[in-house]
Formats: sequence, C-alpha cells, structure tokens
Amino acid sequence: MLELVKTADGSNTLFNRDVGEHYHSCHGALQESRHVFLKAGLEYWLSHSSSSQVSVLEVGFGTGLNFLLTTEHCMDKNVELNYTGIEPYPLDLQLLKNIEYDNYLLQDVCTTFYSSYIVSLEKKILISDHCELEIIVSKLLDFQSQQLFDIVYFDAFASARQPEMWTVESISHVCKYMRPGGVFVTYAITGDLKRTMKLLGFTVHKIQGAPGKREMLRAIKN
Ligand SMILES: C[S@@+](CC[C@H](N)C(=O)[O-])C[C@H]1O[C@@H](n2cnc3c(N)ncnc32)[C@H](O)[C@@H]1O
Repeated sequence: MLELVKTADGSNTLFNRDVGEHYHSCHGALQESRHVFLKAGLEYWLSHSSSSQVSVLEVGFGTGLNFLLTTEHCMDKNVELNYTGIEPYPLDLQLLKNIEYDNYLLQDVCTTFYSSYIVSLEKKILISDHCELEIIVSKLLDFQSQQLFDIVYFDAFASARQPEMWTVESISHVCKYMRPGGVFVTYAITGDLKRTMKLLGFTVHKIQGAPGKREMLRAIKN
C-alpha cells in the first residue's frame, strides 16, 4: 500500500497506492516542505512576532519531515517549539527510518525523533530542552484540544483524492484552534479554499508555490 519513491531533489517520499497520491511533491519532497511550511509558514510567522516560543499544529503528520525541519530551524534560532501532529494512520517506525531524512537533517534530532516516535503517539515528549512533540492519533474532525496554535501546517492529500479534508467543516474545525494573528499554510490554492478561508475570517494571500506548483495559500487569522 505504501511505496518508497525518490523525488527530483534526491529526497524520498511515499506513494499511497490506495489513495493514489504521494506524500510530497515529486519535484522534491524536501524542497516542497522547506518552501511551503518552513519559509512561508514558520519563518513568516517568526519574522512578524517578537515571541521566542511558537506552537505548530500539523494536519497529516505522516513522515514527520515538516516536524524535523521545524525543529532544526527553531533550535538554530533559539525558539521554543511546541509541535502537535494529527495523524490517524501513523507510519511504521522502520518505514519512517527507511525514508532516510536523517541524510539531510541534524543527526541528533533525527535519532531522538526515531527513538521517541512510538511514545509520542501516546503522550507529549521532549525532543530537546526546547522542543516538545505530540502526535494525536485521530482523524481531523475527531481532534479536540484546549490549546490554541500560532501556525497550522495543512498537509492533507489533495482535494481531488480526499475532498472531505478540504470542506468548510474540516477547515473550520482546524482553524478554531488558531490564535488571532495565526498563520495557516498549505501547498495548494483553489477558489473554494480562498472562499472558505475568507468566510472563516482570514486574510488570504496567494503566494509563489514550491517548484512544480505555481501558487500556494497563506492565510492570516484576523
Ligand atoms: C500528504 S500526506 C502528509 C505528508 C506529511 N505531512 C509528511 O510530511 O510526511 C497526508 C497525510 O494525511 C493523513 N490523513 C489522512 N486522513 C486524515 C484525516 N482524516 N485527518 C488527518 N490526517 C489524515 C495521511 O495519513 C497522511 O499522512
């Protein structure tokens, strides 16, 4: 059901045969994650905030690539990170290691992530002094939290493959866990998504997409 695939920048991704979709862009998994989530999401938020703490909620935790990149960046910038991933179908640990993102990222961070991954599916764990991770094993619509987040990484499968993730109900469910001023980023942009975000009180920005995609969406909660 899951196949390991090499993408154009040399980094690996997974192909889910049941859904008919890759976990990342075939133009480059690492390149896409850096562009969409790190630069357009995290770096944008940090550049507009004076806080030394950030909380991130990711819809579709998958391989953990966005988490690893985010952790590395926050460690480098001395920012405290609180990261929550929502994932109803957590990957097998050996498969996670076989993707070999440790070839591109800090060894220490990857080693700690791999060794604490199974526990992080059950409770919040410390990846370093300044970074905590929790993976909530649940579908988006079943997710509940007392917490509000600064940034949402919306990394669901494409709307053509999993339309239920992109409905007003699903998007509004995740957005209610965002702070005012919070940043929502996703790799795609459609007329329906722009309308939904505006309806939910967001200011919508159409910005340059990752290689292979002309545009993507960044929306700010008013
Ligand atoms: C495009 S992949 C995500 C890639 C991931 N962010 C990564 O970097 O590996 C979509 C993810 O959404 C997850 N997913 C599927 N249905 C979901 C649901 N109802 N709620 C939340 N996540 C879901 C899939 O299992 C998959 O891991």
